Parts: sequence; structure tokens; C-alpha cells
Amino acid sequence: MLLVCLVLVVFAIGCQGRRAVPDDGGSEEKCVCNPVVNVGSPPCNYDGHMADLQTVLIAQQAHITRLQNNSKGSESLLAEQKKITDSLKERVEQLEERIMSKDAVITCPARYELFKGTCYRFSTDQKPFNESQHTCNEEGGRLATVKTNETHNFLTNHVRATTKAHTWIGLSDVETEGLWVWDDGTVLVGDGIWGTNEPNGGTRENCVHFYHGVYNYRWNDVPCARSYFYICEIQG
Ligand SMILES: *[C@@H]1O[C@H](CO)[C@@H](O)[C@H](O)[C@H]1NC(C)=O
Ligand SMILES: *[C@@H]1O[C@H](CO)[C@@H](O)[C@H](O)[C@H]1NC(C)=O
Ligand SMILES: *[C@@H]1O[C@H](CO)[C@@H](O)[C@H](O)[C@H]1NC(C)=O
Repeated sequence: MLLVCLVLVVFAIGCQGRRAVPDDGGSEEKCVCNPVVNVGSPPCNYDGHMADLQTVLIAQQAHITRLQNNSKGSESLLAEQKKITDSLKERVEQLEERIMSKDAVITCPARYELFKGTCYRFSTDQKPFNESQHTCNEEGGRLATVKTNETHNFLTNHVRATTKAHTWIGLSDVETEGLWVWDDGTVLVGDGIWGTNEPNGGTRENCVHFYHGVYNYRWNDVPCARSYFYICEIQG
């Protein structure tokens, strides 16, 4: 029984890892990780859990070997230990499977939508570029980076289906005219998905948005003080 208690203590320690999930109330979602019972619980700190489980498994197996070697070893205790080990083995296998399929492991914060491993939130309010950046930062993310055609299509289709309006993305040349930098600090690679003859605003227009209208949501540069909808992203 001492060992069973030890097992529970190890898991209690493992469960202290919390995953901060910003939501409407700004509260934290608790890490729920009873490894034996809660097979469907939300994931949290997988690496930590895997390490915990592996440690316990190894300890269990050593213990069983010792019991087997000990002629006074109680059969029922041995059977009990074996049952715990089997259930731990099963849990490790389940966790491994979920880690292999990455999207199954990612959960987005409230109001965020998952696309290809990244969580996106489409604002319902309109703000200047810097205020939009600030809001995304406060939520633990940044303004959306749009580095593939697939991402561009996903995001613009969403805007098409909802606000149908100009929408900030995380691209600007505020620091150096003509050097387009994403909100994650990387520089725009390739041609970008600009509207015809864009960008063309020089130092007056340093912030980029999906252009609702003639450009069919391709990119356009405008003065950063305009108030537009915006899209935040959080890496899943
Ligand atoms: C159990 O016994 C075997 C041989 O009888 C020995 O090789 C092994 O090291 C023992 N294991 C433990 C944990 O005592
Ligand atoms: C955004 O820019 C305006 C005008 O420059 C400034 O007044 C405001 O404080 C800025 N907001 C943030 C969050 O930086
Ligand atoms: C994105 O689509 C454009 C055509 O709209 C194409 O020219 C370009 O090569 C595509 N880029 C990638 C990375 O697939």
C-alpha cells in the first residue's frame, strides 16, 4: 500500500504544472491530469506527464521484479501492483498516440480557432494598428502572420463570411520604410499577397490590412492610425 501512496504522490506533483489559458474572465483553466482515470481530459504539460509516467513505470517494474524474487511476496499484492502497471502502460500508449497527432494535443484559448497548429481570434471590435497589437500581446499572442497561401485563404474566407471589412494583419514597415516585418519579428519573404500596385503609401502608410472591396482581401498599406478589425494569433 505504501507504494500505491507513493504513486499518488508522484502524480500529485506532476499535476502542479498548470497551463495558463486566457479566456473571457482572464482566469486559468486548471490542469486536470489523473493519468489512470481521466483518459479524455485536456492535455497539459505533456512532456512532464510522460516523464512522470515513465518514472513510475520503471519503479513499478523494478518493484514487481523484487516481489517475484522474494519467496515471501504476497500473491495478492503482486496482482495489485501488476494491475496498476498495466493501466499505466495503457495510459503511456494513449499519450504517445495523441502526441503523434499534433492537432489532437493543441487546444486553443476561448474565442480562438485552430488552423494548421495555430490559434486565431477574429476581433469583433475595430482599433488602430498599435492598439490591436497591444490587445493581441495581452492575450499572449500577436497580430496574425500570413506566411502561406493556405493561411491567407483561411483567414480571408473567415473575414468574407463574417465582418466583410478591412482587417489588420501583423505586417508593417514602421521601423524601416520598405522593409516589411511580421509581428513575430521575421521579415516578409517573397512577393506577399498584395493588391494591384500595392504597397504604395511610402512613409505615410506603414501598416497592412486585408482590403475589403476591389482587392478581394489582398493586402494593402494604410496609415496605422485607422481603426480596423484585427486578427490575433497564438502559436498552438
Ligand atoms: C531477481 O533475481 C534474478 C535472478 O534470480 C536476478 O538476476 C535479479 O537481479 C533479481 N532482481 C532483483 C530486483 O532483485
Ligand atoms: C498608439 O498610438 C497612439 C498615437 O501615437 C498613442 O496615443 C497610444 O498610446 C498608442 N497605444 C499603444 C497601446 O501603444
Ligand atoms: C500562392 O499563390 C500564388 C497565386 O495566387 C502563386 O503565384 C504562389 O506561387 C503561391 N505561393 C505559394 C507559396 O504556394
